[in-house]
Amino acid sequence: MAQQRHEMYRPIHKAIRHMMYTTAHDLSVADYQDKPSADGALASLESTISLLVLHAGHEEDYVHTALEERAPGFIESFEKEHGNDELVYAQLRKLSNEVGSASGARKSELGNEIYDIYNQFVGAYISHLYREEHELQQALWDNFTDEELGAIEGAIDASVAPDVMGQFIILICASFNPDDLVSLLGVMKGGMPPEVFQGVVGMCQSATPADIWAKVKDRI
Ligand SMILES: [Fe+2]
Repeated sequence: MAQQRHEMYRPIHKAIRHMMYTTAHDLSVADYQDKPSADGALASLESTISLLVLHAGHEEDYVHTALEERAPGFIESFEKEHGNDELVYAQLRKLSNEVGSASGARKSELGNEIYDIYNQFVGAYISHLYREEHELQQALWDNFTDEELGAIEGAIDASVAPDVMGQFIILICASFNPDDLVSLLGVMKGGMPPEVFQGVVGMCQSATPADIWAKVKDRI
């Protein structure tokens, strides 16, 4: 059997997809005539945009920079797509800000516009994720050892503030299958003090469906 190589994208992209689809649902059911409902959906949108900006920054600052040294020019089209994403985020944030000062039917119109633009963006972004998971991942395997890729990932993790890491852990645990979770928690167990690991386990359990957690808990 072929040796499993270090996956840079699949795990974190599971979390990213889960987050994006959840926000798509939040925007789908939002009632813009009811302030708490609209505020909740727009908070979900802002949270997703913020984490996507952070995630793209991690890819650019750590992964793309390293690959550019060994395969110059390869990351160009990926960075161009990140640039296009920034334009959409600005458009969504502008519309989102307008909701607060709009009244009556205009609020619902803005909600529909935000829904349309966001979902069009999700379609494009999902293709971007697939390109990273296949084309960019292959280029990384061709140009780096697994130890080097692990070190790049470790540097990204070390750069993330604890509260943001908590948000990522919850998204990751909510989107992983039992095998993914057992593997993730196994790695974490070996890399942190027992009391910190227990905290992570508790956080992870709270985000994981009960039937999946039942399969995981006896194996960690
Ligand atoms: Fe990306």
